[in-house]
Amino acid sequence: MAILNASKRHQPNTGLKMTDLFAQANQANNISFGMGLPDETVFPSAALQKAFTQAIAQEGADIFQYHSTQGPASLRQKIAAMTKTYFGLTASAEQVILTQGGQQAIDMVGRAFLDKNDHIVVEGPTYMGALEAFDSYEPTYHEVPVNDDGMDIAHLKQILRQFPDIKFVYTVPDFQNPTGVTMSLAKRKALLALAEEYDFYIIEDSPYRYLRYTGDMVPSIASLDTSGKVILISSFSKILSPALRTGWLIANKQLIALFLDIKSALDVQPSQISLLAIDQFLAENNIDEHIRAVNAVYKDKCATMVHYLETYLPAHVQFTKPEGGFFLWLSLPEAQDAGKLLLGPVLQEANVVYVPSEIQYASRQIKNQLRLNFTYPSHEDIKDGIMRLAQVLKSI
Ligand SMILES: Cc1ncc(COP(=O)(O)O)c(C=O)c1O
Repeated sequence: MAILNASKRHQPNTGLKMTDLFAQANQANNISFGMGLPDETVFPSAALQKAFTQAIAQEGADIFQYHSTQGPASLRQKIAAMTKTYFGLTASAEQVILTQGGQQAIDMVGRAFLDKNDHIVVEGPTYMGALEAFDSYEPTYHEVPVNDDGMDIAHLKQILRQFPDIKFVYTVPDFQNPTGVTMSLAKRKALLALAEEYDFYIIEDSPYRYLRYTGDMVPSIASLDTSGKVILISSFSKILSPALRTGWLIANKQLIALFLDIKSALDVQPSQISLLAIDQFLAENNIDEHIRAVNAVYKDKCATMVHYLETYLPAHVQFTKPEGGFFLWLSLPEAQDAGKLLLGPVLQEANVVYVPSEIQYASRQIKNQLRLNFTYPSHEDIKDGIMRLAQVLKSI
């Protein structure tokens, strides 16, 4: 039913809804491979608690005051140093804006660049939260398929020839949400060359880059950029805790001025308490060691899921084997609808939750694929859930 006076772009979506999936994921007898949650055992809870206490004790009443829109310089410096380590990018603290998770940074990009019907490129499939954010700005989407080595550059070229006024290309190049695929170096270079030729921005959204379990790091797109075309987004959500709601955006200085205006209009400033607690945590703890420990846990879980998929899935189902991140991607025979299957036999007989492909494509056209998360469930749940899912998929 329509909501009184709601804007057209916010009328309720009548298709499959994430909220329904989340409700299913929370039911006790269901095993959830649905949401992209970290494993709670890897949260450095005690160290974070200590960091909050210390930050409040050190700062006194001032921590409860209004502060800068950009976020504290000491934390921005530490993020710049992490960006050098993990992204090979030399950025100054002035180029970093703290945001309410990477999600807000994505929304700020939409706000900064999009008028109604402006053309943008997204990967197909892509991070559904980015689609939700961009939808508010009513763009015209162009979808580029994702191959085993990242977005299909030949397809992107075709789009650009037909629509040379693309405002930006949004990509998750490292262990993509949702496919788990990483973009090759050659494709990163080709994408940058096209950004030069057609004058568009590349939005490099990379919250999973820190989580590599096998293979070698591929240079970040931002580190290869020589003309300020890349806007880099990342976050503490997947490596420390999503509840901190702390992400960031890194861009050239001219863009930073624009993004600061936007951030100020959105919510005035980030939470000084969270940011100074994170700053304290990073001063007292070795983040690289912590990330290595997280990697060890997730590497095993990824291997467990791949093992049981290899053992139990029928031959008519394909899946990706990611080198890192949170997800892998299953492709069912083309005639199948993963959403209908989920609401039918998968939930009813297998009691398993996943995210169907339909809501992860801007076009909403591809229905026979699905995303599985392997970081949240226990090894035992991965085994049981995959066996139960495979049983249903054998019969399709
Ligand atoms: C690709 C991608 N970008 C951004 C986000 C947003 O995360 P957060 O706002 O918690 O930093 C996520 C979360 O799942 C994601 O997968």
